[in-house]
Amino acid sequence: MTGIATTALPLNVLRRGKVRDVYEVDADRLLVVATDRVSAFDVVMRETVPYKGAVLTQLTAWWLRQLETDVQHHMISADAEEIVRNVPSLDAYRDLLRGRAMLVWRADVFPVECVIRGYIAGSAWKEYRAHGTLAGEPPSAGLRESDRLEPPIFSPATKAETGHDENITIERMAGIVGDAATRDLERFTRTVYTRGLTIAEPRGIIIADTKFEFGVRDGRIIIVDEVLTPDSSRFWPASDYAPGRSQPSFDKQPLRDYLEAERVAGRWSGNYPPPPLPDSVVNATSIRYRDAFRRITGAALDVADLS
Ligand SMILES: Nc1ncnc2c1ncn2[C@@H]1O[C@H](COP(=O)(O)OP(=O)(O)OP(=O)(O)O)[C@@H](O)[C@H]1O
Ligand SMILES: [Mg+2]
Repeated sequence: MTGIATTALPLNVLRRGKVRDVYEVDADRLLVVATDRVSAFDVVMRETVPYKGAVLTQLTAWWLRQLETDVQHHMISADAEEIVRNVPSLDAYRDLLRGRAMLVWRADVFPVECVIRGYIAGSAWKEYRAHGTLAGEPPSAGLRESDRLEPPIFSPATKAETGHDENITIERMAGIVGDAATRDLERFTRTVYTRGLTIAEPRGIIIADTKFEFGVRDGRIIIVDEVLTPDSSRFWPASDYAPGRSQPSFDKQPLRDYLEAERVAGRWSGNYPPPPLPDSVVNATSIRYRDAFRRITGAALDVADLS
């Protein structure tokens, strides 16, 4: 099992992200293919993490089915056979597509990332420590790192084409997408996140924060992109949760620890190119992704036919 680093399908490439390859099927539909690429500290590794792409796609599919009563979504199918029936030109690629591809309705995507935080970590903790604010607003005083935020904080960001996304205030968001859409997107974001927290927490995973994207299709707002995956969210093991310090990442901690040690040892600059990863780190990461899937959905990822 080696993992898929990149894909070359007989369709127009719309974009290649750090992890996903997005293809144009026709004016109405896209094919989103999650590869096994992995990034840490914003750098894409040279190695791939087996089954990671399937975890991202199948977990998104699972969540979208859980969320069907809360919000309409873009998924047409995440089943390779059904995708090939819909897009016959992909007939020769079903082994590659299996588990990792999702056929979706194309939407006009709002140019904002709808970030929501139920715990204070990462850039939000940095902002709070430096300025005492969160998403530009002053929150309650005396927060410790990783404390729960009640209610969760909606902190939108713009999608930067290069580098880091920029956090923006809700007023700035309203300037970009309008007042009505801002209200709708915040409401959807809160509903979906709260549902996600409620489902994941008793299963041993805290979703500390996450990012959603929404778009408009046929005049209606739908949720698009990946949903509540380890790549779009911060997953923490609930059993180790203790505020007052940073929390280990459920999925990428072995990778982060390794890279951090390489950096401290002077063997890695922190930028591209990344250092080579030992098999043990790659395997530990693969196991963590699959474990996240199994814990959340209650069923093991079916890897029998996956390439
Ligand atoms: N239904 C949809 N309609 C239109 N665009 C969509 C839809 N679903 C997802 N997208 C877009 O697909 C793109 C996915 O590419 P993206 O660059 O985010 O990939 P990625 O692998 O997640 O990379 P990164 O880690 O850099 O975010 C996003 O720009 C997202 O807005
Ligand atoms: Mg993305």
